[in-house]
Amino acid sequence: MTDVFPQVPNKPSWYDWLYQNTDKDVEMYRILTEGHDTILECGVGTGRLAIPWAKQGKTVHGIDYSEKMLEEFRQKLPHFPTEIQDNIMLHHADMRDFDLGQKFSFVCIPFASFVYLLTPEDQKSCLRSLKKHLADGGTIVIDLPTWQEAMEEHWLANDNVMRKEKQFVDEKTGKTKQMWTTTHFDASTQLMEQYRHYRTYSKDGQFEEEQVVLWKSRFFLFGEFKLLLEACGLTITKVYGDFQLGPFKHDSEVMVAVIKPV
Ligand SMILES: C[S@@+](CC[C@H](N)C(=O)[O-])C[C@H]1O[C@@H](n2cnc3c(N)ncnc32)[C@H](O)[C@@H]1O
Repeated sequence: MTDVFPQVPNKPSWYDWLYQNTDKDVEMYRILTEGHDTILECGVGTGRLAIPWAKQGKTVHGIDYSEKMLEEFRQKLPHFPTEIQDNIMLHHADMRDFDLGQKFSFVCIPFASFVYLLTPEDQKSCLRSLKKHLADGGTIVIDLPTWQEAMEEHWLANDNVMRKEKQFVDEKTGKTKQMWTTTHFDASTQLMEQYRHYRTYSKDGQFEEEQVVLWKSRFFLFGEFKLLLEACGLTITKVYGDFQLGPFKHDSEVMVAVIKPV
């Protein structure tokens, strides 16, 4: 197996900062998990989706390769009532090969996290692990970025341009945080290497620190994904193209695949 980059800064609080306003998929996943009481989320991160599910009364098992992300998630738990905390089980595991010794009626890899599996071997190994954890009659959902999104986000760029992606003023400290990126996409391997520069400036605008993280992703089109699933005894029963569960089209913003065993 190839190495997995942690894909997060040393301080995962940056992750929560970057995605604090990202909730476009929360309602979609509420709808997709209707009728499912037990959920397995691969790449659970800091609980952006798992916490809403737990609040809805669902039992959520989350696995993540990054201990630091899990620790950030664990630190949030005491802020919730015990009945919500009790709905969340966190496991330090690699989605490419894991065994929790139980099955789930809903298994998912949300927020495009499947792109962090950089080779077809890793992807297949992961899909087989998902299948092993799926209860009879259960559903797998994987959402992926589309080529359209990759183009719009400059993920297919190879131009050495340093792009300012995000800026935010921390209300508590008054400090400004910025994320800058340079991106190299290699069409022969379908791999994107993105250097993410996380910069902090003091209240009066003085540069304080920079942390650089290499972010690697592998993009592919719908046809390759379908073949990959078929090679693992899985099939797509439905594919959506937006977070309102609209049809998948050539310019869709996302590819949400609902998957069942063959
Ligand atoms: C983009 S975040 C998504 C977090 C969460 N699902 C959400 O929607 O906010 C991707 C997560 O996948 C985790 N991850 C990456 N590769 C992994 C692997 N091979 N096994 C398990 N987790 C992995 C990262 O550590 C990170 O927490």
